[in-house]
Amino acid sequence: MSAPAPTIEEAVQAALATVDDPEIRRPITELGMVKGFTVAAGKVTVELLLTVAGCPLRDKLTTDITAAVTRIEGIESVEIDFGVMTEEQRKALQATLRGGGQSAEPVIPFAQPGSKTRVYAVASGKGGVGKSSVTVNLAAALAKRGLSVGVIDADIYGHSVPRMLGVDGRPTRVEDMIMPPQSHGVKVISIGMFTAGNAAVVWRGPMLHRALQQFLADVFWGDLDVLLLDLPPGTGDVAISLAQLLPNAEILVVTTPQTAAAEVAERAGAIALQTHQRLLGVVENMSWLELPDGSRMEVFGSGGGQTVADSLTKTVGASVPLLGQVPLDTRVREAGDAGTPIVLAEPSAAAAQALDAVADRLAVRRESLVGKPLGLTVNARR
Ligand SMILES: Nc1ncnc2c1ncn2[C@@H]1O[C@H](COP(=O)(O)OP(=O)(O)OP(=O)(O)O)[C@@H](O)[C@H]1O
Ligand SMILES: [Mg+2]
Repeated sequence: MSAPAPTIEEAVQAALATVDDPEIRRPITELGMVKGFTVAAGKVTVELLLTVAGCPLRDKLTTDITAAVTRIEGIESVEIDFGVMTEEQRKALQATLRGGGQSAEPVIPFAQPGSKTRVYAVASGKGGVGKSSVTVNLAAALAKRGLSVGVIDADIYGHSVPRMLGVDGRPTRVEDMIMPPQSHGVKVISIGMFTAGNAAVVWRGPMLHRALQQFLADVFWGDLDVLLLDLPPGTGDVAISLAQLLPNAEILVVTTPQTAAAEVAERAGAIALQTHQRLLGVVENMSWLELPDGSRMEVFGSGGGQTVADSLTKTVGASVPLLGQVPLDTRVREAGDAGTPIVLAEPSAAAAQALDAVADRLAVRRESLVGKPLGLTVNARR
């Protein structure tokens, strides 16, 4: 015996459940956006509640709902009556997004015991070594593998991450939750998105700490597999805030082959020791330039990455590997300027392959950290 055929109402309900809010990326039915609907003579009228008045995604919702519902046999047309959520409804939505209970203190999901999100902080001793380029390429490469990836541009002086990932949207608000814009499957939040125009940000200390805390607690990231942070160069306030807010973050050090750069990179890495954070490894960038005859020109010298890795290994007493060497390639810059990282734009380029290989090593899912001590006592490495 077969199950009774669904009623037309059930079919409409099921069709609506296939439509995601374009921003929150969850079914509109789960978000309480469908207030109700009626079916009469082949026409469905949906009462839809927007999270904010004048929601820019209204057209997209109309298209998606119409497509989903008119797929049902016997439905000819769809009309959508738009309304706006009340204060109460928005609060309920926010609670749903937060996964239930409201709490007074901002909760950083990635710092909770049992969080499965791997947090990588990309650091360097000095500026201009390619920290942001490495961050966005790793993010895009991991998203390409189907992982759910977020990036926080914590470089208040630079904030080049949105441009390099081609993000032009701004975060939107639902109550006090911030929805991050996305590009290439990567969710991105940058300090630059919260400062008017390009005004130089002169935040320091407590304000910076608060901003970072807000990025971590109030942004709706969803279930991330990986969160990458692009830190400002050097060993400043941000690194210390980060250690307090995300003690489980693992540090990835970027350096060039140059000895002087390597020395500062080492110093940056050594603070991980003080803050009891795990040093994941070293990425050497701008390692060489491949000449037309196939030979390598070592523009910035050689050996810096290995030197930093060896020296950090000695300092922390656990293996800190050199994870990869990324050659110089004008396409790295061009891809960044165009907003599509080279791992996506030119995946066969040697630089893209080197970055992809580093991403492979980061893609490993970590088991829950529940019940495991953190810090220097944890020396086991993959
Ligand atoms: N492997 C590479 N080949 C060619 N150009 C590169 C490479 N890596 C980075 N670049 C370019 O070098 C410049 C600096 O890189 P990037 O902005 O990523 O460095 P950064 O360490 O984040 O710098 P800042 O300290 O200013 O934040 C950029 O123009 C970038 O496109
Ligand atoms: Mg940068």
